[in-house]
Amino acid sequence: MTETTTNIRPMPRIGDIAPDFTAITTHGEITFSEWQGKDWVVLFSHPADFTPVCSTELADFAKRHQDFAKKKTKLIGLSIDSIHSHLAWRQNLKQIMDVEIPYPLIADLDMKVASLYGMIHPGESATVTVRTVFVIDPKRTIRALIYYPLNVGRNMDEIERLITALQTADANGVATPVNWKPGEKVVVPPPKTVDEVAEREGHTDYERYDFYLNKKDL
Ligand code: BEZ
Repeated sequence: MTETTTNIRPMPRIGDIAPDFTAITTHGEITFSEWQGKDWVVLFSHPADFTPVCSTELADFAKRHQDFAKKKTKLIGLSIDSIHSHLAWRQNLKQIMDVEIPYPLIADLDMKVASLYGMIHPGESATVTVRTVFVIDPKRTIRALIYYPLNVGRNMDEIERLITALQTADANGVATPVNWKPGEKVVVPPPKTVDEVAEREGHTDYERYDFYLNKKDL
């Protein structure tokens, strides 16, 4: 095996355990798994401090911090910047946007965490992280991944919706259909046996399309 191939780390994927790490953040040194505790986590990377699109994203995450907390979800950001840069940018965002950033920002100057999570996409940039979102559940399993390029800000409504959909699916043993929003009908998992086919036929309360597609209210 060549040096290059041995150094390539597979990017974490849905279903993998979130790689653990210790890092310096704006809220002190953390060991990720301990900091997570029993909560859900949105671990996100932004390309760089003091950049316009990232500023809008950090401010919006901050405004929604309580909404995420209600979903037992902690936020944590990361970029390949120093702790001094993160601290200065926080202060600047307070001045220019009147926003306090309540969640920690990881200072990843040595790219340790960015490499561990595959946040650097060299075709886009070899020196900054793209806009990644890792949704990690309380068992530390990666449940969803979103990647955005450098020049397009994320859709925060979608990130919140994704967490609500995952938590609703877990709590009720269901799936969620296209463009699902809380309060709308959910999808009954398709049957795997003839008994399950018969069981679904017996439900007069289901919105029934065929044996494999049934929707119901929660
Ligand atoms: C931005 O956040 O505005 C940005 C950062 C890196 C590249 C392009 C845009």
